Amino acid sequence: MIIAVDGPAASGKGTIARALARHYGLPHLDTGLLYRAVAVSVLREGRDPASEADALAACGFADSLLDDPELRTDEVGKAASVVSAHPPVRAALLERQRSFAQQPGGAVLDGRDIGTVIAPDADAKLFVKATPTIRAQRRHLELRKHGANPSLDKVLADIRTRDERDSHRSEAPMRQAEDAQVLDTSFLSIDAAIQRAIALVEART
Ligand code: C5P
Repeated sequence: MIIAVDGPAASGKGTIARALARHYGLPHLDTGLLYRAVAVSVLREGRDPASEADALAACGFADSLLDDPELRTDEVGKAASVVSAHPPVRAALLERQRSFAQQPGGAVLDGRDIGTVIAPDADAKLFVKATPTIRAQRRHLELRKHGANPSLDKVLADIRTRDERDSHRSEAPMRQAEDAQVLDTSFLSIDAAIQRAIALVEART
C-alpha cells in the first residue's frame, strides 16, 4: 500500500504521515528533508540557493546530511523552497523517492508533489491543509519553544512567501491531486486529525 501525503508547511502533514506509517507498519519518507539537505549543503559552502548550478552540485552531498540537526531550522526551510524550484534538482532527487515508494509492502511519503508526480498511482492520497493564520500560529509556537522569537506577522509573511513559491514554480508545483482527499486540520487536535486521516485511508483501501 502506498500512501501519499501532501500539503503546505505546518499543515500537519508530517505528523499525520508518521502516524499513518506507524499505524500500518510502513516505512516513511519525509521528502522535504531531501530538499533541506541540499539547502544545508549549499548554505555551508557559502553558495547561492537561487543558483541552479550551485544547487545541483549540492545534490550529491544530500544523503550524508539527512541526519543533520540544522535541517529543521526555518532558514533551511526557506532555502529548501528555493533550491527545490530548480527542475534539475527535482530530477536528481526523483528516482530515490520513486524507488522508496515502490518498495515491496508499500510506504508512506509526505511532501508537495507525492500524489501528483512521485507516486501518481498511490492507493490513498491525502492533501492536508490549514489556514495560513493557523499554520503561522503553530510555527510561531514551535519556534518559541526552540528559543527563537520572531513576530507572528513575520512568520505569517514567511509562510505566505513559501506557499506562493511552492505552488507557482514551473516544475511539480504544490497542488492537490485530482483524486486526493482533503483533510483540513485548522480546527482539529493532533489526535483528531490522525483519526480522520486513518478513516480517509480506510475509505480508499
Ligand atoms: O516540508 P518541508 O517544509 O520540510 O519542505 C521544505 C521545502 O522543500 C518546501 O517548502 C518545498 O519547497 C520543498 N519540497 C518540495 N517537494 C517535496 C517536499 C518538499 O518541493 N516533495
